[in-house]
Amino acid sequence: MRLAVIGGDGIGPEVVAEGLRVLRAVYPKVETTDYELGAQRWHRTGETLPDSVLAELRGHDAILLGAVGDPGVPSGVLERGLLLRLRFELDHHVNLRPVRLYPGVTTPLAGDPTIDMIVVREGTEGPYAGAGGTLRRGTPHEVATEESLNTRFGVERVVRDAFARASRRPRAHLTLVHKTNVLTKAGDLWARTVADVGAEFPGVTVDYQHVDAASMFFVTNPGRFDVVVTDNMFGDILTDIGAAITGGIGLAASGNLDPSGANPSMFEPVHGSAPDIAGQGLADPTATVASVAMLLDHLGHTGEAARVEAAVAASLAARAASDGGRRSTREIGDDLAARAAG
Ligand code: NAD
Ligand code: IPM
Ligand code: MN
Repeated sequence: MRLAVIGGDGIGPEVVAEGLRVLRAVYPKVETTDYELGAQRWHRTGETLPDSVLAELRGHDAILLGAVGDPGVPSGVLERGLLLRLRFELDHHVNLRPVRLYPGVTTPLAGDPTIDMIVVREGTEGPYAGAGGTLRRGTPHEVATEESLNTRFGVERVVRDAFARASRRPRAHLTLVHKTNVLTKAGDLWARTVADVGAEFPGVTVDYQHVDAASMFFVTNPGRFDVVVTDNMFGDILTDIGAAITGGIGLAASGNLDPSGANPSMFEPVHGSAPDIAGQGLADPTATVASVAMLLDHLGHTGEAARVEAAVAASLAARAASDGGRRSTREIGDDLAARAAG
C-alpha cells in the first residue's frame, strides 16, 4: 500500500501518528510518504498545495489526513486552498460519514441506543464550489454572494451511490435532506434526481426531511435514519451533530471517496485542527483510527478493517467501563494498537 500522509495543522499530526501506528499493527506492508502541507508551509513559502505535490499525491493508493486550519492563517486560505482543493481536484464526490453509537458509549442522548446511520455528503459542489463574489468591499453598500452550484451530473452520482449503499443495508432506507421549501431551484433538482434514481432501487424506501427538522430529529430521534443523502453544506453541519450524539467529535470518522478509483480517496477525522488543545496530548485519536478502518475497507483489506473496527469498539467499551479519567492521545493510541494487533 502506497499511502500519502498529510498530518496538517494543530492536533492533525498528533492523531495521524496514532492512526499510522494502528494501521501498521494490522497491515505492516505500508509505504508512507509524508507531505508537509498546512500553516507551516504557507508561512515558509506561501504555498498551500503546489501542483507538483498534487501530481505526486495522485500516484498513491490513498491519503490519510489529520486536519488543516490555523489561527495564524487567514480563515479559508488553508481550508479552501488545501483541503477543498484536494477534494475537488481528486473528485471526492462521495463524502462518507458514518454516525454510529458504539456499545457502551454514553452520551447525553444515549436514550436512543440504535444510532446507526451513514451520511452521504456530496463533496464537490454546493455552496463550497466557490461561485460568487464581493462588490464595494468595505463600504456600507458591500454585497457578498456565495452561490450554491448543483449539477445534474454531480447530484445524480452521489444520489446513486447513496441508493446503492442503502440497498445493501438491512433497513434499506434513504432520507434526502435539503431545504426544498426555500432553496426551490437546487431543491427541485435534488428531489427529482432522488425520484428518478429511486426507480432503479425498488427495494429502498425513501423519505424527505427539511434540514431544520432533520437537525432536530438527529438529536431527538436519530434511530429513524439509515442512509442520509444531502448536499455539501448541510452534510457538513449534520455530521457535527452526528458526532455529538454518538460520543463526541473525537470519535467521528470520514472518507472522501472517488468511487471510480481514478483518484486516491482520502480519509480523515470529521474534526478540525482543534487549536484550543493542540500540542498537549489531549486529542482523541479514535476518529482517525476509525478513518483508518474505512481506508483499509476501501482498499479491499476487509479483514484488517474489521480488526481495527473491533479494536475501536472494544477500546470505547473499556473506556466507558473505566473510571472516566482522561487518557492522553498516546495512551488511547497504545490501547487501540494493542487491541488491533490482537
Ligand atoms: P474543531 O473540530 O477543530 O474543534 C471543535 C472543538 O472540538 C474544540 O473544542 C476541540 O478541542 C474539540 N475537538 C476536536 N477534535 C478533537 C479530538 N480529536 N479530541 C478531543 N477534542 C477535539 O473545529 P473548529 O474549532 O471549528 O475549527 C478549528 C480549525 O480547524 C479551523 O481552522 C477550521 O477551519 C479547521 N477545520 C478543519 C477540518 C478538517 O481539516 N477536515 C474540519 C473542521 C475544522
Ligand atoms: C469538515 C470541515 C471542512 C468542511 C472545512 C475545514 C473546509 O469542516 O471536513 O467537515 O467544511 O468540509
Ligand atoms: Mn465540518
